[in-house]
Amino acid sequence: MTVIKKVNLPDTEIPRQWYNIAADMPNPMQPPLNPATGKPASAEDLAPVFPMNLIEQEMSTERYIDIPGKVLEKLLLYRPTPLKRAYALEQHLQTPAKIYYKDESVSPAGSHKPNTAIAQAYYNKEFGIRRITTETGAGQWGSALSFSCALFGLECKVYMVRVSYDQKPYRRLMMQTWGGQCVPSPSPDTSFGRKMLAEDPDCPGSLGIAISEAIEDAVTSRDTRYSLGSVLNHVMLHQTIIGLEAQKQFAQIGEYPDVVVGCVGGGSNFAGLAFPFLRDKIYGKQVQVIAAEPAACPTLTRGPFAYDFGDTAATTPLLPMYTLGHNFMPPAIHAGGLRYHGASPQVSQLVKDRLIEPRAYDQLKTYEAGVLFARTEGQIPAPETCHAIAAAIEEAMKAKEEGVQKTIVFNYSGHGLLDLPGYAKYLEGELSGFALPEEEINRAIAAIAGLPGICTGE
Ligand SMILES: Cc1ncc(COP(=O)(O)O)c(C=O)c1O
Repeated sequence: MTVIKKVNLPDTEIPRQWYNIAADMPNPMQPPLNPATGKPASAEDLAPVFPMNLIEQEMSTERYIDIPGKVLEKLLLYRPTPLKRAYALEQHLQTPAKIYYKDESVSPAGSHKPNTAIAQAYYNKEFGIRRITTETGAGQWGSALSFSCALFGLECKVYMVRVSYDQKPYRRLMMQTWGGQCVPSPSPDTSFGRKMLAEDPDCPGSLGIAISEAIEDAVTSRDTRYSLGSVLNHVMLHQTIIGLEAQKQFAQIGEYPDVVVGCVGGGSNFAGLAFPFLRDKIYGKQVQVIAAEPAACPTLTRGPFAYDFGDTAATTPLLPMYTLGHNFMPPAIHAGGLRYHGASPQVSQLVKDRLIEPRAYDQLKTYEAGVLFARTEGQIPAPETCHAIAAAIEEAMKAKEEGVQKTIVFNYSGHGLLDLPGYAKYLEGELSGFALPEEEINRAIAAIAGLPGICTGE
C-alpha cells in the first residue's frame, strides 16, 4: 500500500477568511493599557505606530475576517502549503504514532512570516503609507517583510538584532535583494540605539531593543508606520490560514490530529496552526495543544503572567502576557527568533486557561531533533522549528511507550538553510545546554512589579 506522504490543496481551495480566536476565547484577553494613564489603550493611542485598518483588526472580535483579493493573489505565490507525513521519522522512532507537518518553509522567504507580512504590506499601502520599519531576530521576519514590501511597492527598513546580523549575513542579502535596508541593532540611527551603544558598544542586541528602534523611527518619520512580525492579535489572525488549510487537508484524508504542536517565540506560527484547532477544543473536541519554547528563554513555562511592555525602551502599550521582563537580555542561543521576553497576549491567556500546554526544551535536545529530522526526512529545519520537532518526537515516543495510535501534527515554521553556523557548532560539539537560573526569573518579576495593572493569577 502506498503511504500518503503529501496532502496538497488546489489553489481554488485556499481559505478566503482568517479565523479570529477573540470571538471564542472562554476568558477574553485583558485589554492592553496606556502606560501613562493605566487605562485601556485606545485606537488613537496606537495610530502613530500602526495604520488604522490594522488597528481595527487588532481590536476586532468578528469570528471570521475576509482576506482581501489582492492579499490572496500574493499568498497564492506559495500557498496552499503542503501537509506532509514524516513517515521515515516514524519508522526510525518505531512509533505507532503518525507524524504530520505543515510545511511553511516553501514560502519565498523560507518561513511562515510572509503570511502576515503580505497582509500588513497590503493594509499599509491601502492606508497611504510609503515606508515601513521593523525589527528582526533570526532575519526571517525582516526578509519576509522586505519581500512583501517589494510586492506592494513600499520602502522597508529593518533593525536586525546584532548577534543574528553577525551570524546570518545571507539573510541581510536577501533583504537587500528585495530592496529592503537592513542595519544591526542597536544602531546609531536612533536615539535609543545610540544610548544602548554608549552603555555597551558590544551589546549583542535583543528583539526588545530592535522593536524600540523601529518604533522610534516610525513615529519620527513621515508616512512611515511600524510593523510587528508576531505577538499582536492581527498577526495571529493572519497566520490562521495555516491551521485552516491543515484542517481541510486532514479532512481530505479522513483524519483529525490528537496532538497539535508549534514552537513559540512571540507565538505567531504556533497560533497560526493551533488556533483553528483550539476553536474545536473550546467547543468540546479532544485535542492536545503543545507550545514548545527554549529553556534559555522560558517565557510561558516560567515567567509570571503580568502587564509588561513589548519592547525594551518601554514605548509600547502594556500587554497582558507571560513575560520575563522587558529588560530581560536572553542568552545568545541559536534560535534567534525565540529570544523574546514576552509572548502573544492571546496565546498567554489560553495558556493561563490551560487550553495550551507550554513546554521548554534545551537547545542541545532541539538540535538533536533537527538533525534526526534532516537525516530521516531530508529537510533541514530552522533552529526555531527544531523546538516543535523535539516536542513532536517526545509525543511520538510517549505513544510508543503507551502503545497507543496517535496522530501528531507540528508546524514546520521554516527551513534552516541559512542557519547552518548553528548546526556547525552542534556537530562540532561546541554547543552547550542552558536553562535560565532561578535568580534571573526572580529578577524579571522584580523588574515589572511596579507597573500598573499587574494581572491576577499565576
Ligand atoms: C522559522 C521561525 N520559526 C519560529 C519563529 C518564532 O516566531 P513566532 O513565535 O512568531 O512564530 C521565527 C521567528 O523569527 C522563525 O523565524
